[in-house]
Amino acid sequence: MSIKAIIGGQWGDEGKGKIVDLLSQNSHIVARYQGGANAGHTVYYNDSKLVLHQIPSGILRKDCKCILGNGMVVDPIALVEEINMVKSHGVSIDNKIFLALNAHIVTPIHKSIDCYQESITEKKIGTTGRGIGPTYVNKYDRVGIRALDLLDEQKLKNKIETSLSKALNTYKFDDSEILKIKEQLVGFMECCKDVSQYVSDTFTIIHNQSQNGDNILIEGAQGTLLDIDHGTYPYVTSSNASSSGISTGLGLPMTKVDNIVGILKAYTTRVGEGPFPTELFDEDGKKLQDIGKEYGATTGRPRRCGWFDGVAAKYSSLVNGFTEIALTKLDILDNFDSIKFCTGYKINNQTTKAFSEVLHNLDNVEPIYTTFEGWRTPTTGIETFDELPDKTKIYINFISEFINTPIKIISTGPGRNQIIKL
Ligand code: IMP
Repeated sequence: MSIKAIIGGQWGDEGKGKIVDLLSQNSHIVARYQGGANAGHTVYYNDSKLVLHQIPSGILRKDCKCILGNGMVVDPIALVEEINMVKSHGVSIDNKIFLALNAHIVTPIHKSIDCYQESITEKKIGTTGRGIGPTYVNKYDRVGIRALDLLDEQKLKNKIETSLSKALNTYKFDDSEILKIKEQLVGFMECCKDVSQYVSDTFTIIHNQSQNGDNILIEGAQGTLLDIDHGTYPYVTSSNASSSGISTGLGLPMTKVDNIVGILKAYTTRVGEGPFPTELFDEDGKKLQDIGKEYGATTGRPRRCGWFDGVAAKYSSLVNGFTEIALTKLDILDNFDSIKFCTGYKINNQTTKAFSEVLHNLDNVEPIYTTFEGWRTPTTGIETFDELPDKTKIYINFISEFINTPIKIISTGPGRNQIIKL
């Protein structure tokens, strides 16, 4: 039995979906502990590409329970859409989805507030517009709507009315936006009825199964550098995307977690605003974007691309306590003459290797690079480490040594079998 967590080590979009899908093979439970429909986890099922936003990737596995933990902010409209999408691919969801009683609920009001705030502020975060921030604000303001409220329709209606009148008094929505919210609330109430069947005491499920010695996989969303406490604040999401969110977001103490797998892409990407020291504005950046198909799975926005930032990854490993690493999208680097890896930053005529030292001043750092010769041979689909070109092995070993964490999985393509296990 093991309890394993999978955490994004960069700014999200590291390819967690595929690794969760792989590691969920023998899992009895896959549980999400934070975030909501801002996530986009791409997985392949019977050759079809599926993008999951709120349902844990374990849904594709028979007899695997999927838990949407109390630390999540769940959008019932998007959840119903996602359930229908999954079902349309022939996946059974019977007795597989469990939504924590105390998870918070995203309403159309939150989504409008999210977009409104982004539209009026000069310092845009570049949010996904999924209502994540405003829902967490309500949670911490102790006025949130929780999953257990879906079990009492009248109580839910009252809470929605209070929330709507407060929002209309606070924000200058135009008439068409108000009409849109009111229309969406009708569909929202219907979806809430539907979703209420999944509301459960997930705390007991997790602890009972943990005591039974079952395998539990914990699925992080977004990435460590988007963590509200440890990320590049204010350009972050509103939850603890790092492993620190597990104990609060599931009620499962960290002493129960055996392994923490950090997912790192073989280069770096970022969606939305905020500092990104190794970002490329040249042909190489464009090449990473094109070959890596770096467009947001949730919003379709092009992702900013750059070289692997070892300083950030090392910090990430420390924040999370990574016990191992899964390196993804290695094959995207197949066609480069040279590949750079950031080993330090220059700032004010000094150098540093400590990300936390410059976390609040990242716009002013200049990356220091070690350059590797590109291997210029296809690695797509390679399934053993030995088969990799020597130059690729050098790059991979360097990453592992630099971060001081073993690399145990390497993804060499989007398909389920395009994987190296070490
Ligand atoms: P929010 O989570 O929608 O509030 O967005 C806050 C920031 O996190 C924005 O820069 C988003 O682009 C980013 N973000 C949110 N979710 C994801 C994700 O799943 N992958 C990558 N970036 C994300």
